[in-house]
Amino acid sequence: MPRGPFKSVETKYMEEREAALTALGRLDRRAFLKVSLATAGVVAAQGIVNPQSFQPIRVASAAEAGKGEPFRIAYISDSHLYDRTINDRFVNSLMRAVDDVNAMSPAPDFVLYGGDLAQLGQARELDLGAQILKNLKVPVRMMVGEHDWYLDMGEKWRDLFGPPTYSFDHKGVHFVVLNSVVEKDFWTARKLTPMQRMKTVAGLDNGMQSSFTVGDEQRAWLKKDLEKLAPTAPLVVFSHSPLYKLYKPWNFWTDDADEVQAILKRFKNVTVIHGHTHQMLTNRIGNIHFHGMLSTAWPWPYAPQGLPELTVQMSRPDPFDPQDGCGDGQITVHPDGLVDKLYNLWNRNPVNVERSYLASKGTRNKPAASTLTRY
Ligand SMILES: [Fe+2]
Ligand SMILES: [Fe+2]
Repeated sequence: MPRGPFKSVETKYMEEREAALTALGRLDRRAFLKVSLATAGVVAAQGIVNPQSFQPIRVASAAEAGKGEPFRIAYISDSHLYDRTINDRFVNSLMRAVDDVNAMSPAPDFVLYGGDLAQLGQARELDLGAQILKNLKVPVRMMVGEHDWYLDMGEKWRDLFGPPTYSFDHKGVHFVVLNSVVEKDFWTARKLTPMQRMKTVAGLDNGMQSSFTVGDEQRAWLKKDLEKLAPTAPLVVFSHSPLYKLYKPWNFWTDDADEVQAILKRFKNVTVIHGHTHQMLTNRIGNIHFHGMLSTAWPWPYAPQGLPELTVQMSRPDPFDPQDGCGDGQITVHPDGLVDKLYNLWNRNPVNVERSYLASKGTRNKPAASTLTRY
């Protein structure tokens, strides 16, 4: 029988995968466009609004006149990269997020990376992440997650990105970045290897590890860092785990959250933006407004109890669409330090949660509930 040009779906997939990964090794722009074009076709077929770039949003109101201009930042979080030869799906997802951010017009002032860049803290995973993030056209502010840290206790991460705890000022707003995944030593007495320690931390509900904390040292640093600020100063805190107690069995929890909140209490408005929970999550505790970020890798289900009342829930993702429930987002920071956040959900319409919704304790500007199928 004559052999034609037929190639099986598997062969074609493997060839395309190889080409994309080779291009990525050369930091080739075409690799990024390839991901964008492939995903654009899928979402266009589903009739989704403006899927590939962010929605323009209102960035000023009369009440703010004379108090400085709001500005936008973008976020990308929880990419959980394996070595690219093991899992190219998560690699493609992070590339898609980089493309999304590069397509924002006007460009954001900077990007926050929300932690868990790697899956098991391995040098090749972190190097791969750093290589992909280098394609961002605007500066990126890095935050560490537990998956980045517990193989070598942050050595490689610090080499690539610097100290995990720092602060900076941008357009009149004070930003603080914390390492909120500090755990008590559960490994020495058990004689665990570095990889056993890493895998224990990566298994959120294994019951062996201790809870995340910010810890005494960073809390003392935070107090000192904030000392110079007036109570009316706009303040945004980035943490990987939520700085409140949501659900301990899954480590959706920071054990010294009460102490951290006490340090933040004297400020009129505080915004905390966190990763780790991989879902749409919104909370308010007194003066502190909390915003969870989406993951580019997978969405977690909601915790079986303790879901904050203000959370605008997303319906359960489609199990047959690997990027459903994932995405990235943009945050408009207002001069008072409160934010509007936009969840740029891939393959779904975006969801905007305005600061007035939190400020009014959910009585104003409540986002519409999702009408998508629940699986
Ligand atoms: Fe994560
Ligand atoms: Fe995490």
